[in-house]
Amino acid sequence: MLEEIWFENLPVKTIGRQIRCFKKVTSTNDLAWLEVSRGSPEGTVIFADEQLKGRGRFNRSWHAPKDAGIWSSVILKPDIPIEKSSLLMVIGAIAICELLKDKFKLDAKIRWPNDVIINDRKIAGIIVETKCIASKPEAIILGIGFNINLKSEEIPPDLTQTITSLYMETGALIDQKDIFRQFLMYLDNWYQKVLSKEENEISDTWKKMSGIIGTDITLEVEGKTVGGKVIAIDLHKGITLKTPEGDKVFRGENATLLRSKKK
Ligand code: BTN
Repeated sequence: MLEEIWFENLPVKTIGRQIRCFKKVTSTNDLAWLEVSRGSPEGTVIFADEQLKGRGRFNRSWHAPKDAGIWSSVILKPDIPIEKSSLLMVIGAIAICELLKDKFKLDAKIRWPNDVIINDRKIAGIIVETKCIASKPEAIILGIGFNINLKSEEIPPDLTQTITSLYMETGALIDQKDIFRQFLMYLDNWYQKVLSKEENEISDTWKKMSGIIGTDITLEVEGKTVGGKVIAIDLHKGITLKTPEGDKVFRGENATLLRSKKK
C-alpha cells in the first residue's frame, strides 16, 4: 500500500502538496468530490491501490485492480473560465507522455483528445469532472488512470488487444511510489503553465504529441460514425475533418476516435 509519508516534501508548487492514500475505494473521483465538500485545498491528490467502480469518459468503466497502476484524482481550483477546462484535460496526458519518453525512452503518443498510447494501445486515460457556481468552476477534478504494473492476465478479455501497461512495455516491475512521485512533479510543472497562461506552449506540445493532423480517421459521434481527413485540431474548438460533405468540427467531449490511418 502506498503511504502518505513517502510524498512529504515533494518539490511541487501546487499538485501534491497534500496526498491522501487509500487501499480500496469505489472511485478516487468520488473521494475527491468529498474532499472538495470538506474544503480541501487545491492540489490535494487522492490515490487508491484499488478501485471497485473506476469511471472513464462516456460512462465507461475503468478497470483498476490492486497495485496495478496510478488510480488517482487531483483537486484543482484554477481561476479560469469553464471553456478553458480542456487545458486541464490535456496537461494530464502531456505529463504522462513526457514522463514515458524522458524516463523510459518509450514512443508514447497522445490519441486525440487525451488518451496516452504506445503502439496503438492505451496506457493511460484522463477524465475531467467540473462543478460550477455562477458559470465559474467551483472545482475541477482531474482523474488519472495510468497502467503501471498491470499484467496481461489481469486485463478483461475484450480489452487485451487495446490496453497496455508500463510493465508490459518494459518487462520490468516498476516501483509505484517512485513513478507516482515523478508523475506528480511533471503534472505540477504543466499545471504551473496553465496558471501562468502559457496556453500556446500547452497547445503546441499537445499537437506535436498527438501527430493526428493529416491522418484519415473515423470518429463515433452520438452513435454515428464519421470519417475524414484531419485538417486542424484546436484545444477549445475541437477537431476539423475534411469529409465528402464538407468540413466538419467535432469536440472531444462528444466524440471517440475509432480508427486512424498513419500518414
Ligand atoms: C478514460 O480514458 O476514459 C478516462 C479514465 C480515467 C480513469 C481514472 S482512474 C482514477 C480516477 N477515478 C476514476 O473513477 N476514474 C479516474
